Amino acid sequence: MRRSLVLAGLFAAVSVHATDATRADLTDEDRARVRRITAPAITFDAPEPFETLPGGGSTVREKLVTRDIFSFPSANLDFEARQRFAVGNGLFRKDWVSAPSSTQASDGLGPLFNARSCQGCHIKDGRGVVPEADEPAVSLFLRLSVPPRSRAEKRALAERRLAAIPEPTYGTQLQNFAVPGVAAEGHMRIDWTEVSVALAGGETATLRRPSYRVEDLGYGAMRKDVMLSPRIAAPMIGLGLVEAIHEDDILAHAARKDDPDGIVGKPSYVRDPASGALVLGRFGWKAGQPAVKPQAAHAFSGDMGLSTPLLPDHWGDCTTKQKACRAAPHGAQPAFGPEEVPGDLLDFVAFYSTHLGVPARRGSDDAQVLAGKQLFYEARCASCHVPKYVTRRDAADPAHRFQLIWPYSDFLLHDMGEGLADDRPEGDANGREWRTQPLWGVGLATTVDARATFLHDGRARTVLEAILWHGGEAQAARDRVVGMTPAQRADLIRFVESL
Ligand code: HEC
Ligand code: HEC
Repeated sequence: MRRSLVLAGLFAAVSVHATDATRADLTDEDRARVRRITAPAITFDAPEPFETLPGGGSTVREKLVTRDIFSFPSANLDFEARQRFAVGNGLFRKDWVSAPSSTQASDGLGPLFNARSCQGCHIKDGRGVVPEADEPAVSLFLRLSVPPRSRAEKRALAERRLAAIPEPTYGTQLQNFAVPGVAAEGHMRIDWTEVSVALAGGETATLRRPSYRVEDLGYGAMRKDVMLSPRIAAPMIGLGLVEAIHEDDILAHAARKDDPDGIVGKPSYVRDPASGALVLGRFGWKAGQPAVKPQAAHAFSGDMGLSTPLLPDHWGDCTTKQKACRAAPHGAQPAFGPEEVPGDLLDFVAFYSTHLGVPARRGSDDAQVLAGKQLFYEARCASCHVPKYVTRRDAADPAHRFQLIWPYSDFLLHDMGEGLADDRPEGDANGREWRTQPLWGVGLATTVDARATFLHDGRARTVLEAILWHGGEAQAARDRVVGMTPAQRADLIRFVESL
């Protein structure tokens, strides 16, 4: 039953770039099995084997889907690992306070910060929210940088010692809160413009286009050529499985030359803070972080002003021009080590963050969902939102080893067009490029938080709006959705929301 007559003429066969990677972790026999099981779907009359379990053996199979659905540990953790997870959970939720305080083990917040806890932004382990006009921003903030001027700055970028040149006074991120006695940096203002999009079949969608500015600057003017990049907190599920995807499987989709839609896919290479080596970036909206632990250290430093062994400055993102901020008391205690957040606590938080389970699919055998799945392939969404992988046999953590997983991402950077551009380069990503966002759990975003929205700055209020913002390498896929009948569009969205 092919319901996609409108689309049928556009492409003769559905071909998604096949994985032809080497994968030294596998035997020849395993490699053949993996290739077979990760091949793109070709029939859509029934679900594929195991597709109801997007996180493989770690999938969360709760009968009752409530707003806690992103907060469960991977199902395949043993007792000891569950205890580590519980400790990490406490630290993820903990509200840090400014130093000095009577609760010494929790102080050191700031001096500048965006939020007091990880959970303050990753709401119920899901994504952040866009602030209302009268609300301070917490889980959506602005990254800041300036174009390089000196030879030394250009070299630092070229060698990837820095991903961007910090704004000289305000640093790498606008922190809109500060501890008593220190000025906050300013406030982000968002102005919205409505844009209508006509869809085939007489439907119209209304998008809201944001524009960002900074008010109430606490430290004087920013450099005129400052570049702003809005970022909303991303969902926390399945991240350890993403770490366990073999690099060969990601690179197999990179630098495509033969894609009919002109999709390329660019790997992002970043410095691993532990070894100093250039490694593949996988986390963050521009794939700027190689792994969860360094991403957590950056969050402690940039978002909360807390030092860790990976980023040991107690003042976080305060620059040399913010003198009171650099001189403010910090929360490190000699009894626990030189940092505000000692290495073992960072490890607990990273452990927690790599073991939040992915929920089971809902309705994967529903006729409408299956029809929508076929449309997803035919519109070539799967070119970037690559459905499945088998994780490394030699993954560091046994819970992540050799799992068939369904994240729906190639974890590569793509030019997404002018509409989504932030015009702020970061590492290998230019001002129009973003990392393909995984789609697992996307249909549960509003169950976890009714205010949840989509894309890197939360501008899209629905899945349809998110699709309509796609441009650049995704323009052809987006246009196919505009050209679908209303019933087909509804099927496609049903499928995406079943993920
Ligand atoms: C002020 C809000 C805020 C706080 C607090 C915060 N995060 Fe985040 N988090 C973000 C944003 C925004 C991103 C996307 C960053 C980017 O694109 O550069 C993110 C991304 C991440 C990611 C990568 C997710 C992905 O799929 O790419 C991880 C992991 C993460 N945060 C962990 C943490 C941990 C652990 C903490 C606490 C130590 C924390 N975050 C605190 C806002 C926050
Ligand atoms: C060229 C690669 C590419 C193609 C093709 C593509 N996407 Fe995306 N998709 C992305 C990127 C990159 C993002 C993140 C963009 C951003 O946040 O600005 C994204 C984000 C999304 C989101 C929002 C996810 C979230 O959690 O916020 C949805 C939903 C989505 N895509 C669905 C689709 C569908 C459906 C199609 C097919 C019609 C499609 N995409 C085609 C690259 C692609």
